[in-house]
Amino acid sequence: MSSAHSAHLGRVLCIITGASKGFGRTVAKEMSGLVKPGSVLVLAARSEDDLRSLQAELTELEAGRAGLRVESVVADMAQMEGIENVVRSSEEAFSEHIDHLILVNNAASLGDVSRSVKTFTDMAEVDSYLSLNVSSSMCLTARVLQSFPQRPGLRRTIVNVTSLCALQPFRSWVLYCTGKAAREMMFRVLAEEEPDLRVLNYSPGPLDTAMQMEARTRTGDDGIRKSFVDMFDQGQLLTCEASCAKLMKLLLEDNYTSGAHIDVYDV
Ligand SMILES: NC(=O)c1ccc[n+]([C@@H]2O[C@H](COP(=O)([O-])OP(=O)(O)OC[C@H]3O[C@@H](n4cnc5c(N)ncnc54)[C@H](OP(=O)(O)O)[C@@H]3O)[C@@H](O)[C@H]2O)c1
Repeated sequence: MSSAHSAHLGRVLCIITGASKGFGRTVAKEMSGLVKPGSVLVLAARSEDDLRSLQAELTELEAGRAGLRVESVVADMAQMEGIENVVRSSEEAFSEHIDHLILVNNAASLGDVSRSVKTFTDMAEVDSYLSLNVSSSMCLTARVLQSFPQRPGLRRTIVNVTSLCALQPFRSWVLYCTGKAAREMMFRVLAEEEPDLRVLNYSPGPLDTAMQMEARTRTGDDGIRKSFVDMFDQGQLLTCEASCAKLMKLLLEDNYTSGAHIDVYDV
């Protein structure tokens, strides 16, 4: 990959789901330092206090003082109402000066990782998991693309935060692996259909977040659980900042193949 890249992402409208904590929160912070004045960040999650504290923090940073606008949307992304609220806030925040639309589909849940496939007999339980982890990112992406259609002078980038689990089966992780694989394929189809879009499936690696703690403590399969415990004990987890820096490098260089799965360790 070439080292030549732009120093900023443009005058951006950036929508980030799951921005209240973990990787999404870090993406919001890093993004704020790479956008031109007049840019807007639309931050979505369910935890209102965490979103408000992030909004206050970003507004006090240099970017905030230079005119970055930050909108918090308290929304459950598993509900159509939550998706509509995010789209409405984004439409209200948009202006003709925006030259780069970025959607970061980051919100996700681990689901029940304590059980094997043969225990999932309840269709409502499976549907509920897939609703947040697959359906919501498809419908949000579709709504955003409809609200901000292709036009001269507007770049559009769609990021899906994916995982090794989209490619590799993990025992007792059927919900998460299924969701990540389905979601990634969805964005690959999108990349095929819309050649003007830039679509990136970014796999951030093992991150030191709440989700990773859940993996260490709740995984049903002994071998898989031990591998997560070992990674933690041996200091192999990545910080959100280190992984996010790689994502920002990819976005700034902008020479990945649209629809590709790119792993943090390959950047
Ligand atoms: N951690 C890892 O090791 C790892 C590895 C590979 C990939 N990933 C992926 O990286 C992304 C971020 O993971 P993370 O580790 O940062 O997870 P995390 O710490 O659990 O954070 C998840 C985020 O998603 C939001 N969220 C969850 N359910 C939501 C809902 N119904 N509506 C709206 N927002 C919701 C949460 O906010 P609220 O609770 O406030 O709603 C939170 O901001 C995910 O896509 C994950 O699959 C993580």
